[in-house]
Amino acid sequence: MMMTTVKLLCLCLCATVLVWADEPSSETTITASPGDVVRLPCYGDGQVTPSLTTWWKEGRRLSLGETQTDAGDPPSSPTHAGPRLGLLEDGSLDFRWVREGDEGDYLCSAQLPGNVTWRARVLLLVASAPANVSISIVPTTLLSNGTLVTYRGSTVSFHCVASSYPSQHLTWTFRGAGAGNGSLASTAEAPWLDFRLKDIQADAQGVYSCTANNTVTHQAANKSAQLLVYYVPDRHPECTWVQSQDRTRVLFNCSWPGAYPPPTLRWAEDQGEQGAGRVFASEVTDSLTVALNRSLLSGGQTVRCTAQHLALARARERSCSFLLEPPYPEGEPLVSAQEGSNITLACTESTSTPPAATTWRRGLEHAEVVVGAKYFLSEDGPACRLTIANVSKDDEGVYFCRSENPLGVSELEVYLTVRASSSAYTGAIVGVFIAALIVGWAVVVAKVVYANRHRVCLGGAFGRPHDDDDDRGDVLSLVESDDEQIFQAPVPRLPPLTDTGHTTLVQIHHIPSCEQEDTGMTAPEEEETREELPDLVTF
Ligand SMILES: *[C@@H]1O[C@H](CO)[C@@H](O)[C@H](O)[C@H]1NC(C)=O
Ligand SMILES: *[C@@H]1O[C@H](CO)[C@@H](O)[C@H](O)[C@H]1NC(C)=O
Ligand SMILES: *[C@@H]1O[C@H](CO)[C@@H](O)[C@H](O)[C@H]1NC(C)=O
Repeated sequence: MMMTTVKLLCLCLCATVLVWADEPSSETTITASPGDVVRLPCYGDGQVTPSLTTWWKEGRRLSLGETQTDAGDPPSSPTHAGPRLGLLEDGSLDFRWVREGDEGDYLCSAQLPGNVTWRARVLLLVASAPANVSISIVPTTLLSNGTLVTYRGSTVSFHCVASSYPSQHLTWTFRGAGAGNGSLASTAEAPWLDFRLKDIQADAQGVYSCTANNTVTHQAANKSAQLLVYYVPDRHPECTWVQSQDRTRVLFNCSWPGAYPPPTLRWAEDQGEQGAGRVFASEVTDSLTVALNRSLLSGGQTVRCTAQHLALARARERSCSFLLEPPYPEGEPLVSAQEGSNITLACTESTSTPPAATTWRRGLEHAEVVVGAKYFLSEDGPACRLTIANVSKDDEGVYFCRSENPLGVSELEVYLTVRASSSAYTGAIVGVFIAALIVGWAVVVAKVVYANRHRVCLGGAFGRPHDDDDDRGDVLSLVESDDEQIFQAPVPRLPPLTDTGHTTLVQIHHIPSCEQEDTGMTAPEEEETREELPDLVTF
């Protein structure tokens, strides 16, 4: 009954009443917040009015009903004027509003009828609920929905401040997706609480709350923030292509898994110094595929996939790219084969980006060769080989190594000549033999004549009489004027001439022998011959 009254009158939060036989007659604890209206009861049974009531605070008597020096404005009603403390008729001590500092041990003594003295003790606690809880988590980025973002590897500081009277406990707690939930830090009694997380990882993502707990009232207040930990993989995106059935199109795929949240991937062409040119596609995803056709692609163009993410510094975009190259098949343009043998036509396609499809065709109508007993295709890295089995005269003609990529088509023309099996072979041998004979003959003549030219010329000039003078003059003048042009090339192809050869020739042409002088002349000529060797073209 007593307790209910106290609660009702005083807006108190907690009260206990103990009535002892001994003094004081009652003991009450009242908790109030600053600004509250509080009445401290003395006798207060509501029926008997004490004739005199006196109040003490911490042993000091309070002077009530006299000049109220204690007046002031409560924070909530600035217009209020008048005494803050008063004595009610039933002897209760009336606080128009309580403020910090009013807490303490209050004693009252009331004179009741029948010369009874009633003594009561009231413990007044002034406590303000935790207020102004404020948190800051730095360094972070604030999203529009109030969520905070930090980046993996950062050191993050958590700061919490709150005000409570007379004191508070502060606690930081964490609630995440995985394990490791719970208290992170707490204080006994302090106005603020800080802690730091170093090298923050993805599992630190969650809700961080700071709770302030009033040590007197045990009232609590908290503030929370959601913290996201963004991260990107260390590697660059991976660019790949998928050849579509239609050779004029290509699917470029860009993949960059392992980023949180998903990045923005963009396929665009590079345009020199200006940066990105045409943008083919851009999407928030960790894998972006774009189909490009011949009308959008050209040789020398760089097609790049760029990944953008908040966790990447502005200057540190990650990307991968392709430098597109049209196909360019290479190989021997002229091939000859012997009838009945197998021949392989080779073609190498090593520049095309994206890779080309290489096929073989034949004839002016570009008929695709059909693999079977006759034709056999083999691919070895960039090389594509066509083997023709049991070559016949019908196989002679033009073949095309056709290389196609999404940029275009390019063909290598290969001409196959088919030699008749035995006759051609014999013919060739005979031909070579005859050619060698002719050349050998010519060279020997030239060499001998050249070696003897001075002697012969001198003989002519001094008019030495000789029976074959006219003949020799004719032969020599011809050779003299033309020997450089006619014989220079063939000379080195033959083995060095022997002295016997000279003798024989001299005899044939009736030139007087002059071996002694020859030796002197031959040496420089042979040197000349050797120097010319590298320029020779074999056939
Ligand atoms: C705020 O936005 C982020 C990203 O858009 C999202 O992950 C997060 O869940 C959002 N937070 C709330 C509280 O809605
Ligand atoms: C190539 O692609 C573009 C855009 O996707 C389209 O407008 C155009 O018609 C295509 N051209 C061909 C030849 O397929
Ligand atoms: C090669 O072709 C000729 C006709 O072109 C044929 O007579 C011969 O039997 C063939 N040889 C082989 C081994 O197939």
